[in-house]
Amino acid sequence: MSYSTTCHTAPHIKQHNKNPALTNLLSKKSHNRSSRFAEEKLYNGTMPKRTKIERYKEILSLPNVTDLHHYRDGDHASVRGKWSELFGNDNPITLELACGKGDYCLGLGSRYPDRNFLGLDIKGDRIWKGAMQALDAGLRNVRFLRTRIDHLTNYFAPGEIDEIWITFPDPYLKKSETRKRLTHPVFLQRYARILQADGLIHLKTDSDRLFNFTLQVIDILNLPIKQQISDLYRLESIPENLDIQTYYEKQHHSAGQTIKYVAFRLNDDVYHTVSGKINKLI
Ligand SMILES: C[S@@+](CC[C@H](N)C(=O)[O-])C[C@H]1O[C@@H](n2cnc3c(N)ncnc32)[C@H](O)[C@@H]1O
Repeated sequence: MSYSTTCHTAPHIKQHNKNPALTNLLSKKSHNRSSRFAEEKLYNGTMPKRTKIERYKEILSLPNVTDLHHYRDGDHASVRGKWSELFGNDNPITLELACGKGDYCLGLGSRYPDRNFLGLDIKGDRIWKGAMQALDAGLRNVRFLRTRIDHLTNYFAPGEIDEIWITFPDPYLKKSETRKRLTHPVFLQRYARILQADGLIHLKTDSDRLFNFTLQVIDILNLPIKQQISDLYRLESIPENLDIQTYYEKQHHSAGQTIKYVAFRLNDDVYHTVSGKINKLI
């Protein structure tokens, strides 16, 4: 799906306490539930210091986080098919998987106010950072879901997601762990069940093993590639949106690792049994 190129302008809201970000935060009903910690950050201008445990607790009270990490039957009812309602509009939704602090959600969210961005990760303390930054920046089009990617199809209705970014996922280097790689057909089948037809999947990684594995899966399943880059920072100019750097990307890039990217689409072949060929990949 194409992005409109309009730059983000925060919604105009009457000033309050001389701090527009705080005004934004407090101006909507849902934002009134924001914790005193979020407010404290905005008053002080710095991210409040919190222990990991405090962050895990605090995300429960942040208005832009849904915490479903204790997977239980019935959990899905609060969100499945309801993301437009949660965002408060019908704009297309981009899902960032293994989002960590949600750098892509934040980066794209500020560039594309007419789209919604949802970061998904299991680690609550990382989500806390992204969620606090989104509140601070007044990004109403950025939300976070704390859960395991393995349960993805429970939380989204068919076609509810417009595109997926997978940013620096764990590469699971051992052959015995290939089924945990987020571009294994087991995961692609899950994505196919929630993505709109023709929805793009973007993978950014430093891992040669994961990148090559993904390209082989794409080849075996005959998936159409939109763009493939084997060394992003050797390009003369960085393509649109690939300039957004995640926390892990910065680490890997400064350690001299090459950053790789591929954007591809799914097709019905993801449902075909090709396990014989896939199992041979390492
Ligand atoms: C290497 S970090 C990358 C974080 C971020 N995308 C970045 O580039 O800075 C991988 C992330 O995947 C998350 N993760 C790993 N397996 C997961 C799963 N099954 N469900 C949800 N999140 C998972 C971890 O919690 C971690 O934050």
